[in-house]
Amino acid sequence: MVAGTQPFDISAKTHDPRAGLRGDYAHMDADYTVAQDMSRYDAAMQDRWQRLLARQMRLLPGRACRAFIEAVTMLEMRRGIPSFAEVNAALAARTGWTLVGVPGLLPDAVFFAHLADRRFPVTVWLREEHEFDYIVEPDLFHDFFGHVPMLFTPVYADYLQRYGQGGLKAATLSGLDWLARLYWYTIEFGLLREDGGVRAYGAGILSSPKELVYAVESGVPVRLPFDVLEVMRTPYLIDDVQSQYFVLESFEQLLADTAPDFAPLYARLSAEARAAVKA
Ligand code: PHE
Ligand code: FE
Repeated sequence: MVAGTQPFDISAKTHDPRAGLRGDYAHMDADYTVAQDMSRYDAAMQDRWQRLLARQMRLLPGRACRAFIEAVTMLEMRRGIPSFAEVNAALAARTGWTLVGVPGLLPDAVFFAHLADRRFPVTVWLREEHEFDYIVEPDLFHDFFGHVPMLFTPVYADYLQRYGQGGLKAATLSGLDWLARLYWYTIEFGLLREDGGVRAYGAGILSSPKELVYAVESGVPVRLPFDVLEVMRTPYLIDDVQSQYFVLESFEQLLADTAPDFAPLYARLSAEARAAVKA
């Protein structure tokens, strides 16, 4: 799940019966959550889930970070499309997070409020067969396989809550354009130094067969040391593999480096952007 800073017009979405659960914003609660109805996942969807999972699992060794591999193994997703209620029991015990079902992308403020309360929104519908290799919009596979395992790591879980709180604050400081880049280059496309190499912890990398290999092994992209200001200065692509990635030394570094007040950073970045327009 990513905040609604992406080019999808939520208000334009209507329920399409052919798409099943997809984008059904008509029957959600005030906080944009929907129940996960397990009976709506038919045999074709279960089969697609298994194939998405098998393809991605094979690519994890040597490419995904240790915390992700451990949690994925523990979650036993091979038993079928996971029930959020079942996972929530284990997740609450470990880090106090709760998964909530959502119809798709959320408005920024709604998304941030969920994260600030340690609720992670997971899209309830699975991509169609023609989207098997690539999907721009987050679906159940991206949200669950990519994001949920990392929620079992306490320091990462704390960071994500602080990100949500920081989002609510950034909205009052015209800081969302800058803060969105931090989400993008950490939660979605973050790399971590581990065992003398780089490993992925970002969900956008971990849920994509192409980008998992590319981000970790290709000589093409630039891999820079994680730096909050540099991250906030770096625009991103939403529909192709990234041309740069930022590499953490540890999740403790992520928490420590993002702890200072971002208000002065937002002011500085906004001033830089204004100066660039004038130049
Ligand atoms: N330190 C940030 C602020 O003052 C809050 C934040 C923490 C944002 C962690 C993102 C991640 O706004
Ligand atoms: Fe995501």
